[in-house]
Amino acid sequence: MEVKITLSGKGNGSTYPRLSFFLCILLYFWVLFNPVNGYSMKHCRIRESLNVSVLCDGRNLNAVPADIPLLVTSVNIAKNNISQIKSEDFKDLKFLKMLIMYSNRISHVENGSFSDLVALEQLNLAFNKLTSLSDQMFKGLDNLTVLQLENNHISSIASSSFQLLFSLKVLNLTSNKLHCFKELKHILQLPSLLKLFIGNNSLNSLQSQEISNRSIGLTELDLSRNPLEIFSVTADIFPYLKKLDLSFCGINGSMEWDVADRYFLSNVSSLDLSGIHMSLQGIGSVLQSINFSLASLGLDKIGKDNLINVACHIPTLKTLRLQCNNFSSVSDKLLQSCTQVTDLDISGNNITDLSEAAFRSIKDLKTLRLGYDGLSSVPNATRNLRTLKNLDLSHNIIKTLGCSDFSNLKRLEKLYLNNNLISNLEGCVFLDLRALNSLTLRRNRILNLGEAFTKGLQHLKSLDLGFNKLTNIRTNYFKSLRSLEDLALYDNEIKTLEDGAFVGLAKLKNLVLLNNVIGKSEIRGAVFKGLRSLKTLNMASNAIKYEKDEQLQQPPFTDLSSLENLYIFSQHYTKYMRQSCLPSNFLEGLNMLSEFQAGNLHIAYLHPDTFIHTPQLLSLDISQNFFHALSPELFHPIPKLKRLTISKTELESLDFLIEANLTQVRFLKVRQNKIKWTNETVLHSLPALTLLDMQRNPFICDCRNAWFVQWAESNSQTQVAYAHDYPCSYPDDLKDTKLLDLDTHSCSVDLGIFYFISTTSLVLLTLLGSFIYHLLRWQVVYAYYLFLAYLHDSKRRNRQTPHQYDAFVSYNTHDECWVVRELLPELEGEQGWKLCLHHRDFQPGKPIIENITDAIYRSRKTICVITHRYLQSEWCSREIQVASFRLFDEQKDVMILVFLEEIPDHQLSPYHRMRRLVKRRTYLSWPRAGEDTRVFWQKLQVALETRDWPAEENPILTGVERQ
Ligand SMILES: *[C@@H]1O[C@H](CO)[C@@H](O)[C@H](O)[C@H]1NC(C)=O
Ligand SMILES: *[C@@H]1O[C@H](CO)[C@@H](O)[C@H](O)[C@H]1NC(C)=O
Ligand SMILES: *[C@@H]1O[C@H](CO)[C@@H](O)[C@H](O)[C@H]1NC(C)=O
Ligand SMILES: *[C@@H]1O[C@H](CO)[C@@H](O)[C@H](O)[C@H]1NC(C)=O
Repeated sequence: MEVKITLSGKGNGSTYPRLSFFLCILLYFWVLFNPVNGYSMKHCRIRESLNVSVLCDGRNLNAVPADIPLLVTSVNIAKNNISQIKSEDFKDLKFLKMLIMYSNRISHVENGSFSDLVALEQLNLAFNKLTSLSDQMFKGLDNLTVLQLENNHISSIASSSFQLLFSLKVLNLTSNKLHCFKELKHILQLPSLLKLFIGNNSLNSLQSQEISNRSIGLTELDLSRNPLEIFSVTADIFPYLKKLDLSFCGINGSMEWDVADRYFLSNVSSLDLSGIHMSLQGIGSVLQSINFSLASLGLDKIGKDNLINVACHIPTLKTLRLQCNNFSSVSDKLLQSCTQVTDLDISGNNITDLSEAAFRSIKDLKTLRLGYDGLSSVPNATRNLRTLKNLDLSHNIIKTLGCSDFSNLKRLEKLYLNNNLISNLEGCVFLDLRALNSLTLRRNRILNLGEAFTKGLQHLKSLDLGFNKLTNIRTNYFKSLRSLEDLALYDNEIKTLEDGAFVGLAKLKNLVLLNNVIGKSEIRGAVFKGLRSLKTLNMASNAIKYEKDEQLQQPPFTDLSSLENLYIFSQHYTKYMRQSCLPSNFLEGLNMLSEFQAGNLHIAYLHPDTFIHTPQLLSLDISQNFFHALSPELFHPIPKLKRLTISKTELESLDFLIEANLTQVRFLKVRQNKIKWTNETVLHSLPALTLLDMQRNPFICDCRNAWFVQWAESNSQTQVAYAHDYPCSYPDDLKDTKLLDLDTHSCSVDLGIFYFISTTSLVLLTLLGSFIYHLLRWQVVYAYYLFLAYLHDSKRRNRQTPHQYDAFVSYNTHDECWVVRELLPELEGEQGWKLCLHHRDFQPGKPIIENITDAIYRSRKTICVITHRYLQSEWCSREIQVASFRLFDEQKDVMILVFLEEIPDHQLSPYHRMRRLVKRRTYLSWPRAGEDTRVFWQKLQVALETRDWPAEENPILTGVERQ
């Protein structure tokens, strides 16, 4: 390939830009692979899926990390000790969309700190120590839509601090120290603001005339827990308001309500007046002024039962919340007028007396919440609610369930019975709940399921029996639950699983048996029979232990052909049995298994055949065991593995990975092992690795880890999680240093840089050489002879030789005849000059170029006898070159050109220099045959007589310039 590069602006005009483009590409690649631009951050993790996220929450940071990559879209630095944000902290993060900084100690934000965050959409500065918001604080956040400033100490807001937040939709200022609603004026007028949360401040009045006289786009306003004395709306400034929270507002029942026109808040559909400090009359007038579209009303902790009547006269009301109102008895009358309500919450009322007809007038009750109500049995009042879909009876003191408790609830879909005292379940209890799809019986005292799930409940999808006292899962226990997908049996005392315990659960996807006392003999093929769809089996924290490295007669999971996730970590051990084994065919049949968590099993060895049945395995966690080493063969059957976690074992080296062939592993976590150094070969054997976590290993800080240090800092594919925090464990005098602070320069000569520089220079020189040759060929050749001539010139000068000859005659051998017959007799014979002729006067044995130079310099003049042949002869041209050098060098007119033949210009053109000489200088032409030669000889004589004049001033020959 010929690379043609023109350096001047002439010629091919586009080549120069092409060159600079090429150089830019070179530079770009150099920058890209520049060893100082690593991938990992000092104190944070980078997560890169579709976008780049930086995670540094809870790392005890005192300042915003300085090494956040520029392409980041999300940064989480919550829960640190950062006390201020500096103007350069988030410089140039032009792609950042989410910045999470809650729970720090930020009290000061320098002006313009966020000004580069043009793409930021969410900023969370909640739970900090900000006291005021300054004018310039949020400058530049043009795209911010959500701003969270709750739980600070903000008491003042500069009038233009929110000025440019054109996109802001949601602002949370809950739990601050704002006391003047007027100060929020400019916030309320933000063009995009939809939701404003200013609960729990010190605002004592809202008066519309102080805020605006035109309408505001707000749809949601939370004013709860402010000591509001007056809420006054005298103009239609909230026409779009849908949700208004005034709960716990006012003090001492004094809050005043002044809404001039009942149409002003006519769009409000959700209103919370819970715990409001207002007179009964006041609340009544509130309800009357908001009765166009009100659908949801909160009247918790208000303690005034005559309000219910007023509320229920709002024809659009559907959802009514009446928590914690101390209605210890609910009579027939209380809810009589609430006929249109569909969603009723009377939790937390300590109801002891609930009239059977309490809900009778409610025609279409769908959701009824009776939690925390002190009920000791399912009340009669709920029995005939045929429209009911959700019933919450949680957190009561119900001991038993009767056959007719739910028998009429044919449409019930969700039933919450958690946190009661139920110990026994009759077979008839749930029989008629045909539509039920979710049943929660968590935290009761159930010992025995009896026949509860052997009939009915054919649409049940989710059953939670966690935190009960079951000890035995009997055959056919869940026989009729043919739609069940989730079964939770965690935190019971299950010891026995009978054969066929899960028969009928053909659709079961998740089975949670976490935290029981199931032993190895209970996990048998016959137990799990029929679980065709099971995807996740969680048997962590049980008592599964195998003493010997046995091969099981009948592996337990052979029926679970759909199982994808198996968790068996943390099995309980007695102090007499510290070691366990995992049978080599334990996983047989689990063809689809993709995740296996087998940490904390007290095993010291894994048979190389352990995973031969699970070729789809993607994620493996075998942490907290006692492996000192693992065999590479263990991993050969699972080539798809992506995540490997072997933390808190006793591993001393990762060398087993070299031959493990784990070409897909992306995440490797080997925290808290005994790895002292990391071998280069190991990490090269994991070509897909993107995250390596080696926290809390006892690293040696010497040259054995030099490679790892450099790699951790510089490689652009794998981040070493929190690498900058890895301490040196050895040698003792470096115990306070960090591994990455190790000075690796003394460990090796950096051959890479050496090679880089030398090859680059070589390439550049070659390029330069060819350019120069290509463009300046003649100059180069000339310079060469110039140089040679210079050498001889200096020699000659040293010798101080006087001119030995009058003229050196340069000619081609073919023209010797003319020289000998015509020139020699005339010049030496007639005119008496002493000539130097190469055939006569050259010293034999001397290099030819030396002879030529000598001859030229020993002669006053050089006569070039020019013919076609002369020009073709290489040596003759060189004589011209050297002579012209002398001309150039000594500024003497030494050259006499004698043209024996007519030579047209174009034939001279290849002899670039000659042509220039002829054009610029003088020459003599030998007359044509028959013409008189006397003038010629005379001119030649004059030319030979001329002494040492500067070339241009030759007075005689100027007349014969060739055009
Ligand atoms: C700001 O948001 C708009 C709309 O979501 C988007 O088109 C634009 O690219 C964003 N600007 C920046 C700088 O990300
Ligand atoms: C606003 O902050 C309060 C207090 O932390 C919180 O309870 C509420 O959910 C927040 N609202 C939004 C929309 O973030
Ligand atoms: C390791 O993987 C390579 C390529 O996938 C394969 O050719 C080779 O046989 C594997 N070696 C072992 C021991 O499985
Ligand atoms: C890395 O491991 C390979 C294979 O075990 C071994 O040959 C090599 O010497 C080790 N290199 C170092 C620096 O320990």
